[in-house]
Amino acid sequence: MKYKSQKIAYWFFAFSMLVFAIQLTYGFIMGFARVGMDGLHEWIPFNTAHTVHLNSLVVWLLSGFMGAAYYIIPEETENELCCVKLAYVQLITLAVVAVAALVGYHINYWEGRKFLEIPRPLDWLVAINVILFLFILLMTIIKGKRKTTTSLVLFGGLVGAALLYLPGMISFNSQILDSFFRWWVVHLWVEGVWELIMGGILSFLLIKLTGVDREVIEKWLYVIIALTFLSGILGTGHHYYYIGVNKIWLIIGGIFSSLEPLAFLGMTLWALAMYSKGEKKHPNKLAIYWTLNAAIVSFLGAGLLGLAHTLPQTNIYTHGTLVTAMHGHLAFWGAYASIVLAIMYYAMPNITGRKFYNHTRGKLAFWLANIGIFTMVAAFAAAGVAQVYLERKLSFDFGQVQNELQVHFWVLITGATILSTGIILLLIDFIKYGMPTDEALVEA
Ligand code: HEM
Ligand code: HEM
Ligand SMILES: [Fe+2]
Repeated sequence: MKYKSQKIAYWFFAFSMLVFAIQLTYGFIMGFARVGMDGLHEWIPFNTAHTVHLNSLVVWLLSGFMGAAYYIIPEETENELCCVKLAYVQLITLAVVAVAALVGYHINYWEGRKFLEIPRPLDWLVAINVILFLFILLMTIIKGKRKTTTSLVLFGGLVGAALLYLPGMISFNSQILDSFFRWWVVHLWVEGVWELIMGGILSFLLIKLTGVDREVIEKWLYVIIALTFLSGILGTGHHYYYIGVNKIWLIIGGIFSSLEPLAFLGMTLWALAMYSKGEKKHPNKLAIYWTLNAAIVSFLGAGLLGLAHTLPQTNIYTHGTLVTAMHGHLAFWGAYASIVLAIMYYAMPNITGRKFYNHTRGKLAFWLANIGIFTMVAAFAAAGVAQVYLERKLSFDFGQVQNELQVHFWVLITGATILSTGIILLLIDFIKYGMPTDEALVEA
């Protein structure tokens, strides 16, 4: 750590890990409900568990991105973070909104719009929080000595994410319009601006971990951004096939969304090329593991498993089935969960001054988590394909098919247990790093 103010990142990572644990817990509630063990139903019915699972996912990833930005921006701009006290206020408001929303979901105070369930009055609190966050970053960048491509892409992605939150705050009387604009948030986040955030963090990590020249690394970032926007914006059409809008979206969505994997493939090749070109001397092996994991698994989960159901000819069968859950898990895991864990593993030794970064527990956590999630994805895939066949091809009744799928959910629970064992080890790692300290300031 070169700047004292980078320490604030620790608290965002800590909050992120806490919410991650909540996400997994609610995943289990759903997993068990799916095999008929639904004892908590009266207090936490499936739809509540689902909402908490998805919203806590978004919150822990956003908190991770914020921690990443507070760590990266001072170092990139060569300057202390402006207004550190305000950053703590921002952390607290983030926690308050998150807790209020999560409690709300248990007392039926919510909106039934997948991923955007947060009640609209709370949206205003989110807006204030995000404005605070971006203000702090902007002031830091303005005051800074350097304006690097990495920091500007990261900041650009964060500003884009804030702006794209707004279409989700408009009220419509029409289900079609509501759905149309919901995708501006959900799709244009994960297949647009969040890719910039990921690209920015990845670029920073590659510069630090491989030792390859910044110029070489940052040059490729432009290519990734170009590929992302070229395919991702009109790729939104893959959510418009059968929601009641103009049929032209079948063609537009089919063509452009099929190109989206190129941006993820670009990131994979970029990271692998920089890694093989680099010196491989950096001692923080765990940060390297997670960085390469993000680069590779994002392509598998988002790129390939996205492609698997993105053509209208396929999507007419797979839409809204467990095939989507298969893709959703590996895409979120590979791209965004892994990049947050990568920057965390990179930053923690630097913030806390405890240089343990090549230990067995950390490696075990990495492998168990990955084996677990891949097992879960295989279970969702088998369940999804069976569901499509029975329900959509043979026209069996929805409920009847769900009963047939129970066996796959036992596999899912097994995978989830392996994943969670890995994450428990990871959380122990986190705690073992201890608190941030000024002694960690490097003699840079
Ligand atoms: C990291 C990037 C990505 C993430 C995190 C992600 C995640 C998700 C999630 C969670 C859903 C369900 C959304 C909902 O129902 O509200 C979804 C749907 C979908 N995704 Fe992705 N995705 C990513 C990239 C891609 C890519 C690159 C493609 C295409 C090549 C793709 C194709 C699709 C399709 C076609 C659907 C609609 C499924 C349906 O009909 O229900 N995704 N994605
Ligand atoms: C303990 C581990 C986990 C379990 C047991 C679990 C289980 C589940 C279940 C049962 C669903 C609902 C599927 C359905 O019936 O439609 C679901 C949805 C979802 N989960 Fe998980 N999950 C776990 C971890 C994760 C992780 C680590 C992520 C992200 C990195 C994640 C992301 C998602 C997403 C995006 C959806 C929505 C999928 C869709 O759009 O269809 N889950 N999860
Ligand atoms: Fe999409």
